[in-house]
Amino acid sequence: MSPAAGPVVLGIAAHFHDAAAALLVGGELVAASHEERYTRQKQDPSLPRNAVRDCLAQAGLRINDVDCVAYYEDPAKKLHRQLWTGLPEFPDASEMALFRLDADRPRREIRELLGWDGPVEIVDHHLSHAASAYYFSGFERSAVLTVDAVGEWATSSWGLGDGAGLSLLDQIEFPHSLGLLYSAITGYLGFEVNEGEYKVMGLAPYGTPRYADKIRNLIEINDNGRFTLALDYFSFGRADGMLGDRFTELLGVPKRTPESTIDDVHRDIARSIQTVTEETLLRMVGRARDMTGSENLCMAGGVALNVVAVRRIVEEGPFAHVFVQPAAGDAGGSLGCAAVAHQRLTGERPHPRRQRSALLGSTTDSNEIAHLLGAYPTHAVHDYRGDEAGLLGAVSARLASGKVIGWYHGREEFGPRSLGGRSILADPRGDDTRDRINASVKMREAFRPFAPAVLAEHAAEHFRIDHESPFMLETCEVISPLHLPAITHVDRSARVQTVTEQENGRFYRLLKAFAERTDCPLLLNTSFNLRGEPIVHTPVDALLCFLRSDIDCLVLDDFVVDRESLPQAWITWLKGTRPPRQSCVSDNVYTLL
Ligand SMILES: [Fe+2]
Repeated sequence: MSPAAGPVVLGIAAHFHDAAAALLVGGELVAASHEERYTRQKQDPSLPRNAVRDCLAQAGLRINDVDCVAYYEDPAKKLHRQLWTGLPEFPDASEMALFRLDADRPRREIRELLGWDGPVEIVDHHLSHAASAYYFSGFERSAVLTVDAVGEWATSSWGLGDGAGLSLLDQIEFPHSLGLLYSAITGYLGFEVNEGEYKVMGLAPYGTPRYADKIRNLIEINDNGRFTLALDYFSFGRADGMLGDRFTELLGVPKRTPESTIDDVHRDIARSIQTVTEETLLRMVGRARDMTGSENLCMAGGVALNVVAVRRIVEEGPFAHVFVQPAAGDAGGSLGCAAVAHQRLTGERPHPRRQRSALLGSTTDSNEIAHLLGAYPTHAVHDYRGDEAGLLGAVSARLASGKVIGWYHGREEFGPRSLGGRSILADPRGDDTRDRINASVKMREAFRPFAPAVLAEHAAEHFRIDHESPFMLETCEVISPLHLPAITHVDRSARVQTVTEQENGRFYRLLKAFAERTDCPLLLNTSFNLRGEPIVHTPVDALLCFLRSDIDCLVLDDFVVDRESLPQAWITWLKGTRPPRQSCVSDNVYTLL
C-alpha cells in the first residue's frame, strides 16, 4: 500500500450477469468497465478479465500493484440459495446450472485468470449495492434502499450510511422479490427477462392500470413497508416462465408470444405492474425514512433503474435529496464491493464526494483512429485534429439537416446509459426521427421512447426539473416551447440527461454549437449499438455498427465519415454480415442459478 495514495482496490462483479470491474486508488474511483463491451456478448457473466486489464491499464498499474481484490457477493451464501432454488430440478438440472453450483469458482478464477494470489475480500451482494450508492453519493448521512431480483438470499435491503460507516438494518429474502415480480410479468408479456423490463416500463404509459388489482393479489405490502409474494402464483424453478397457470386464470389473459402483436391488454398489464411497483417502492422508501430519520436517500439494485418509479420517489417520497447509483444493476456491485473493502482496510470513507461522471471506461487515441481510417478513401474521411470548432460546426450542421450521427469520443460510459461518450445523436425536432431510428438504426420496438441530452443551464426551460440529472435516472414532464416529438413519450415525459462542460466538455460544446445553429439546446441521445448488442467499445465496433445500420454519419473522435461518401459495395456487403444476437441469459426466466 502506498501511504501517499492509499490502497489500490479492485472490485469484481461476475458469474451472474453483466460482469464488471472497478478500480479504486486511494478511495478514488479511477476506472470501471463492463466485460460485455470487450467480448461483445450481451450481459457476459464471465470473470471480467478484459475489463480488469483495461481498468489497471488506465491507471498505469498491474495486478501486482493491487492491495486488495474484492468480490461483490458471498459465493457460499449464494450456493445455499442456489441449492434451495434448484432442488426441484435435480437430477435434471442442465450442465450449465450444475457448473454454476461452485462456491470456489470466484476465488479460483480470480487466482487463475487474473494472477492474483492474495485473499479475496467477500462483500455481500446487497451491501455491495448499498455501498455503490452511499459511498458515491456525497451525503454525510443517508438512508439506503436496495432493490433487485435476488443476491445471495436478500432481494431488498434497508440501510444507513453515516460517515465512513454503512450498515444494513433489515432485508427481504428470496423468493419474496419485487424485482422478480417485475421480471416475471416482463416474461409473461413476451419480453426478455433481465433485458425487457425497460420495454415494459416504456409500454406502460400507453395503457391503463385495469389489472393492478389483480396483480396486487401477487404481493402483500405490510404496514411496516415490508412485502411478501403470494408464492402460489409463481414457479421460479421452471424453465418456461416464472408465473404458473394460476396467474393466467387470475388475469384471464394468456401469456404473450415473443415478437407477436402488442395489444391493449398487454399495454394495460404493463401499466398495471408499473403502478404496483411504484406503490410498493413508495412504501419501502417511507420505511427507509422511518428507520433512519435521514433527509437523504441512496438507491441501487436493478429496480432502481426504473426511472418512472424514481421520479415518483423524488416527487412524492419523504426525502429531500435522492441519489441513485448510475450503474445500479449488478455491474455497479463492483464499485460497491471495492468501496467496502477500502473502508475495511483503512477505516476511512472512500470517495467522499458525489460521483459526477459515468465516463469511467477507456478511450482511444486519435492517431490510432487515423491509422484505422487509413483504409478508407481519403475523400470520405474528414480530419479535424486540432480543430474542434471545425468538427463541431460540421457535426452540428449535419444534425440540423436531419442526419443521424454515431458519436464516439473520449472515455466510455459505465452503466447502462450512453451519456455522450458512445452515443447515437439526432435532432429531437424531426417528426420522423424517432420512427426512423427505431426502425433502421436501433431496430427495436416503435413504442420505446428516446432520451434527450440538454445543456444543463437550459434544462428548466424545456423540462419540469429543478436539479441536475447527469445520468438519465429519472423522468420528468416535457414543458418545452419547442416541438420535440422524438424525445417526448406518450405521457409527455422524458428521461433527461443534463450536460455540463465541466463533466463532458466536447459533448457540451456540441450541444452548444447545435443550439447556436438552431436555438434548440438539446439532442436525442441513445446508446450506440444495434438491438441485442452491447454498446460499442472500440472504433472498429463503432465502424461496424455504423456500416450495418442506417446511421448517416460517424464521428470517431476528431474524424467524420459520411455514409454517402463510402463505396456502395462496402455497405451492401456489410449489411448482410450482422452477427446473430448473442445473449448469456435466458429469455424466459430470471437466471437463478
Ligand atoms: Fe443485484
